[in-house]
Amino acid sequence: MPAHTFARSRYATDLLGRVAAGWRRIADDQRRGVIGAARVAADLAALDAPPALLMTAGHVIQEEIHHLEVCARVLEELAPGRANRLDPPDLGQAPSERGANLGLPRATISSERTLARTLVADYALGKPVTAASFAAARALIREPLLAWAYTELLHDETRHATFGARAAVWVIRNWSAREREALWTACLAAPGPGSATHSNDPEAEALGLLPADVDCALPRWILPHLEPLGLHPRPANEQTLLH
Ligand SMILES: [Fe+2]
Repeated sequence: MPAHTFARSRYATDLLGRVAAGWRRIADDQRRGVIGAARVAADLAALDAPPALLMTAGHVIQEEIHHLEVCARVLEELAPGRANRLDPPDLGQAPSERGANLGLPRATISSERTLARTLVADYALGKPVTAASFAAARALIREPLLAWAYTELLHDETRHATFGARAAVWVIRNWSAREREALWTACLAAPGPGSATHSNDPEAEALGLLPADVDCALPRWILPHLEPLGLHPRPANEQTLLH
């Protein structure tokens, strides 16, 4: 991919080190995305979800793996010689312990309530916010490699958001209005996506070398997908979510 260049010589070593560390955190987020999507697919299958929904869940897993590949490509350029060092540093740990380090619950079939909350909070509400932060960084970046990476990362997010809403509609199809209300309250109280891994590096963020936090306003396009859930959030600030 010769067009996807990164001019390392433009930046101080210290800044490059922080940017590489930031992209390792993004890679960790993507790894969580793979595990989370696989878990959602398994939970939906256990609940006898229709094959069409399971097919989409399978595509989401595949796309999250692609996002991990994109991060590996970025890290090859940012930290040559440390390419593909996408695993957490403590590789001596058992996989289940590594999962715990990534903040993941142990692999068990989730309750219907937990699954619904994941689909709404992490996918329907969370993915548009993640996409917005990548889109904002892409608008600033002058490095072709990172412009490509942001495009690849945000490309699937809108579809993942609508998948989350559609799958949640199926999961809660027999829920009462009161149960739906409780779900909505729980989702609004959940921490935003990537909130634990945000870099908070104004210098790198101003150059688009790392994505910055964006405000958590919902884009208007997701609202029709939330309506069948019986959830009616107010849209705001759709400007930040254009991509
Ligand atoms: Fe992703």
